[in-house]
Amino acid sequence: MSDIGGIRWERVGQVVAGQGSPSFLEVLVLLDPGVEIRPGEYCMAEIDHGFYGILRVRNAIEVNPYENPSHAHLRRIINIPHMSPGTNLPRRYVVAYTEPVGELRIEGPDNVTYGPPQKLIPAGCVVYKMSGSVLAKVLGYSVPDDRALHIGYLYGTNEPVKLNAFEVLPRHILIVGTTGSGKTYLLGVIVEEICKLKLFSVVNIDFHGDFIKAAGELDGINLKAGKELTVRFRYLEEPELLSILPYMHELHRDIVLEAFRELKEADRDFSIDDLLRKMDEVGRRLGASDHSIHLAKTRVASLKRSRIIGRGIDWEKMLEPGKFVNIDCRGLTHSELQVLVGALSRELLALRRESVIPPIVFAVDEAHLFIPRKEEGAGVQVLREAILFGRHYLFCLILVTQSPMDIDGRIIRITNTRFIFALEPDQLAAIKGVFADAPKEFIDMIPKLERGVCLITGSRETVRHAHFVKVRERYTTHGGATPDVKAVVSRWLERRGTRGPYNGEATGKLSGMHGENKDDKRRYRYGIERFLR
Ligand SMILES: Nc1ncnc2c1ncn2[C@@H]1O[C@H](COP(=O)(O)OP(=O)(O)OP(=O)(O)O)[C@@H](O)[C@H]1O
Ligand SMILES: [Mg+2]
Repeated sequence: MSDIGGIRWERVGQVVAGQGSPSFLEVLVLLDPGVEIRPGEYCMAEIDHGFYGILRVRNAIEVNPYENPSHAHLRRIINIPHMSPGTNLPRRYVVAYTEPVGELRIEGPDNVTYGPPQKLIPAGCVVYKMSGSVLAKVLGYSVPDDRALHIGYLYGTNEPVKLNAFEVLPRHILIVGTTGSGKTYLLGVIVEEICKLKLFSVVNIDFHGDFIKAAGELDGINLKAGKELTVRFRYLEEPELLSILPYMHELHRDIVLEAFRELKEADRDFSIDDLLRKMDEVGRRLGASDHSIHLAKTRVASLKRSRIIGRGIDWEKMLEPGKFVNIDCRGLTHSELQVLVGALSRELLALRRESVIPPIVFAVDEAHLFIPRKEEGAGVQVLREAILFGRHYLFCLILVTQSPMDIDGRIIRITNTRFIFALEPDQLAAIKGVFADAPKEFIDMIPKLERGVCLITGSRETVRHAHFVKVRERYTTHGGATPDVKAVVSRWLERRGTRGPYNGEATGKLSGMHGENKDDKRRYRYGIERFLR
């Protein structure tokens, strides 16, 4: 321990020369015996009194000639036990591979200045573990409470990760990871934090009902898509309109699209009846027969049965800073989802442009459904506008996906703050533009990350240096838990009311089907009959 600027620092070792170190790219640190260090941890090397080089640990290796293969083999043959790992031996030591990421001047606990690396860190400098307010300063997390999003802790420590809402929310956020890695859970944490600050409102597209309970707990609102929530016709794009219409002949399609375009250009709300009337006018202008116009109108009239197109909602009344609105999308078809998410994002963006609604966060799970990689199909249009223009109007998108390789790469790169959970190597390749200053060693660790731990990256304003985060616990209910198989089966059997027809003793045969006795055969028959009924 050492006292620097009124703070107690834990010494970990000293900078050593050799293997290209020290340089501006790599600094080797010989660790003191017994010191443990993790990849991603931050240290500081004392270059001068009150002046430090900041080092980020990439890797560490043990040098131990006593346990090289030939020595270990020899000892095994002559039956001598191997050296205990804790033994302090003269030629055994651990070297940490670190990289310089900045410089610090510390003149007191509240007098810390940070800058980029300018000075070579000489061999021999004593190295300390970095923690507390100084670490927060280095990472850009010394944020006042009225703008702090407390996401979790630096992995392996109790150091809080507090993002600056004023910097993070005006830009888009990406959350990626394999299934079950903790993406939706983190989205819940972010939502809790945004609601607490009462700056942005949040609209969440909820596919699986993950946020129904949380909405209640956050004093928010659940809207059932297709029932309490419909979208206005004018916010649909042409490909979306076509995707929900029955198949049409080319001429019929031209009539519909031309009429739709003309109504949209008027920049007013319009109904399906307005479109039908407009089609009469356009059809005649295009020289179509009455029969053709009638056929086209019949197709369009079928939209009156659509669950999702309607009068929309008064967002101006519904949204206020800190309000959480959860859109329950369970039961919608794929094309209904596309239309709903596309039209809603456009409507909210338009309302933001006119400052009708407060700053807004629009969260979309399964984002690969809305910004597919290939520029084909109706889905392409869905979120592009919101992504490209949203950041100029305090319209923040949170895109969540388990399959970044299915998302348009340009869109991924437009996001600013990225949370990367455990991900397969092929999926990692698809997001190679988002690792910011994370070294290769960090990226190699991503497939092995435990649930609830992610790599966070960003820009100078949001996340100054890439590092690992353990996401904090939620205080609202997370509805995305994997079902307990045993409980689900018991409930199913209970509901059925009787013992199952195949519920005999395990005999190595399909129980009941090849019943040895009359009872089993009867049960099998009974089962089939019930199935056929
Ligand atoms: N930070 C965390 N703290 C505690 N538990 C967590 C954390 N993150 C995730 N979990 C647990 O892991 C489970 C799966 O997390 P989550 O539902 O967020 O996965 P997901 O990445 O959204 O998966 P999917 O892609 O299948 O939707 C949760 O039910 C929760 O119990
Ligand atoms: Mg999920």
